[in-house]
Amino acid sequence: MNEYCKKWGLDPNKLPKHVGIVMDGNGRWASQKKRPRLFGHNEGVKRVEEITEFSGNIGIEALTLFAFSDENWRRPEEEVSGLMGLLRWFIRKESKRIFENNVRFRVIGDRQKLSLDILDLIVNLEQKTSSNTGMHLCVALSYGGHGEILRAVKKIVAKVEVGEVFVNDIDSSLFESCLDTAGLPALDMFIRTSGEFRVSNFLLWQLAYAEMFFEPAPWPDFNMEKYVHLLNEFSCRQRRFGLTPEQKIPPTFNASKCGLL
Ligand code: FPP
Repeated sequence: MNEYCKKWGLDPNKLPKHVGIVMDGNGRWASQKKRPRLFGHNEGVKRVEEITEFSGNIGIEALTLFAFSDENWRRPEEEVSGLMGLLRWFIRKESKRIFENNVRFRVIGDRQKLSLDILDLIVNLEQKTSSNTGMHLCVALSYGGHGEILRAVKKIVAKVEVGEVFVNDIDSSLFESCLDTAGLPALDMFIRTSGEFRVSNFLLWQLAYAEMFFEPAPWPDFNMEKYVHLLNEFSCRQRRFGLTPEQKIPPTFNASKCGLL
């Protein structure tokens, strides 16, 4: 048994394969302490490092973190450039550790809006870690679910236009292969910190059968104990994927691949 799971009392067979987190509450956390909002984002990066390492250690296959939304570009310039600076700093500082921990790094979102130097850092790290075999760390950056779905639609239309795909061939499997998250396991668990009950344009397609968790603590206070508590709650949820409680759902069940979606 995985020693980390054992230490934290987690059942490795009942863990989600793919966890998505909306890391909300950095600003309010900082304001409560009478500090600038960036102080909260800075503290948030520390949780990113801890939760990423922990998730890899317990055998989570994919972790998707919402770092910057399509809508966040409209925040005050000082906050936008501060967040971009943090991302730059995070990638530079963490790339060695990400690589050595066998993590596969990926950024999802609208890359066209990113500055060239950040794009360069991202592409380098994606390429450097592409042959790794461990957890996927997926950072949603300049990301919105609507935008991702529209990008997928455009890719499919382009395939239809050149005759590579017929309209009748379009199914959920083809659609998923055109999403930014192509190749990742289905999203099992959604966590939003800071007590807001919203999805906020995060992984809209992928949320179809995810279990939802709304955590009152703001992201900078989201520690391992809180994560473990939610993971244990996840283990107790009965997932049915539209079937009846009597029907046995195989552990490897994938709603989309079984044609249910
Ligand atoms: C939401 O809190 C959080 C964000 C918009 C940014 C999240 C970014 C980080 C945790 C750091 C960078 C991430 C990586 C992967 C290096 P908010 O600012 O909306 O908080 P509020 O709702 O309290 O105002």
